[in-house]
Amino acid sequence: MVLSDDAIQFAEQFSDITSNPNYRMLKAVPRHGSTNTYDHSVRVAEMAYHMAPKFGVDSVSAARVGLLHDFCLVDYRKGDPVGHNGRMYCFYHPEDAVENSEKEGYKLSEKEKKAIRSHMFPLATSVPTSRLAYILTLSDKIVATQESFANAVESYMRFKMLLNAKRLKAVRVLHRDHSDELWTR
Ligand SMILES: [Fe+2]
Ligand SMILES: [Fe+2]
Repeated sequence: MVLSDDAIQFAEQFSDITSNPNYRMLKAVPRHGSTNTYDHSVRVAEMAYHMAPKFGVDSVSAARVGLLHDFCLVDYRKGDPVGHNGRMYCFYHPEDAVENSEKEGYKLSEKEKKAIRSHMFPLATSVPTSRLAYILTLSDKIVATQESFANAVESYMRFKMLLNAKRLKAVRVLHRDHSDELWTR
C-alpha cells in the first residue's frame, strides 16, 4: 500500500518531523502487513488533522500527535532487541514514541503526551482523557483497519496469481505432451 499524492503533500507541511533522518527510519519498520510505520503515521496524522476541527481540536496538534504516535523503531514481528522487561509491544511503544519525540527535540504538551500514551486503548496503560486523545486513537484504528484489509486483499491477489501460474504451467505441460504424441504418430 503506497502513500497517496495528497498524503505526500500533507507530510511536506510537517517537514520538521517528516524530513528528520531518525524519524524517516520508520520507513524500515513494517506495519499491518501492507505498509511501513512512516506511511502509517502520515495516514493517521492526515485523518486526525481533518477530523480535529469537527471536534473543536487544534488541527496542527492532532497532526503532530498522529505523526509521532508510533515513533518507536522496534520491529514488532522480530521481537524486542532493546528489552522492555518482557512487556508487550502494544504497551511500551506509545511510551517509547513520547521518549523518542522528546529526544529529537519535539516539544509536546502534557495533553499531547497523554494522547500518544493512550492511543492503543484499550490495550494501553492509560485511558484517553481528551478529545485530542480520542481523535488520535480513532484515526489510528480506522487507518490500521484499512491497512490490514489492504494486506488481506494483496495476499489474496498473490494467492490467485500463484494459482493461475500453476494452472498455466499445467496447461503448457498438457499441450506439450499432446504435441509430442501427435509428432510420434
Ligand atoms: Fe501504535
Ligand atoms: Fe499507529
